[in-house]
Amino acid sequence: MHNAIYNAYFGFAENPFNISPDPEFLYRSPQHEEALANLIYGVRSRKGFIVLTGEVGTGKTTMLECLRDYLDSQRVEFAFIFNSRLTPEQFFEMMAFDFDLQCNRKSKTDVLFALNTLLLKQADRGRTCVLIVDEAHNLEWDVLEEVRLLGNLENRQGKLLQIILAGQPELDRKLDAPNLRQLKQRIVLRCSLDPLTPEECAAYVASRLARAGLPNQKVFSPELLEEVYKRSRGIPRLINLLCDNLLVTVFAMEQRIATIPMLDEVCRDLRLEWPGSLRDRRSRARYAASEEPLPEAPLSLSGD
Ligand SMILES: Nc1ncnc2c1ncn2[C@@H]1O[C@H](COP(=O)(O)OP(=O)(O)OP(=O)(O)O)[C@@H](O)[C@H]1O
Ligand SMILES: [Mg+2]
Repeated sequence: MHNAIYNAYFGFAENPFNISPDPEFLYRSPQHEEALANLIYGVRSRKGFIVLTGEVGTGKTTMLECLRDYLDSQRVEFAFIFNSRLTPEQFFEMMAFDFDLQCNRKSKTDVLFALNTLLLKQADRGRTCVLIVDEAHNLEWDVLEEVRLLGNLENRQGKLLQIILAGQPELDRKLDAPNLRQLKQRIVLRCSLDPLTPEECAAYVASRLARAGLPNQKVFSPELLEEVYKRSRGIPRLINLLCDNLLVTVFAMEQRIATIPMLDEVCRDLRLEWPGSLRDRRSRARYAASEEPLPEAPLSLSGD
């Protein structure tokens, strides 16, 4: 990100299109609202496994950050594991670290013992504990098996540890594997995030701008926002990327309004491809002999 070189120019208090998953900028689309309500309900009802899936950049980590704020406000103990490329040993160590378990964190037995003590202590106080694993599609089979076993910890009132697995749609396919049948059976809640609709895309941009200090924005016209939707396919991270770069361009050109040619340039710089982009490019190329060659490596949506 450009760290908001344009903030003063537009009168923003903060960068409106930061790509970090900041709950302060949450846009409550119906599906984001529903996903968050499901996560909270799942934790409160103590049923065990909850799965959140969605394509790259649709807002999964943002939802988990909102959940984390909720858990903090309720003083619920939780561990948040965001690096999922772990061996079972590293997994236990990270979990122990995040739950602040006072034990030999390198010993699985010690960690399990300390975790059980924590869970029972919390249960005595009428509280539950939560394990959140982001990027769970990357979990190795042996780690998933350990996660499944953690889901067995229960008392008469219900599961002692609520487990939330969030990840890309591969996670669903992984959970369909025959060796994970048992885990799959225990998933009590599933939620998924889709890209935004065109209307939501426009509302999303307006909501972020308003939050940054520009209510009733005029920088992005409805026609331009339609193009932003088309080219981002409604994926929030790409919308942020396009809008941030557009603001930089508007600022650099000392203008007040973003235009389609500016968006064209931004997309070229980002090497962004979208449905119909090649066709558009070719038809433009007929008129402009100086058209640049097609990008070799268009902007990829996947994280790695
Ligand atoms: N409902 C929302 N309100 C505000 N911003 C959002 C929302 N959903 C997504 N975003 C923004 O979109 C970007 C991507 O979101 P996030 O990192 O949560 O996606 P993700 O699904 O976790 O992606 P990945 O699969 O790459 O991990 C972030 O900048 C985030 O702030
Ligand atoms: Mg994420």
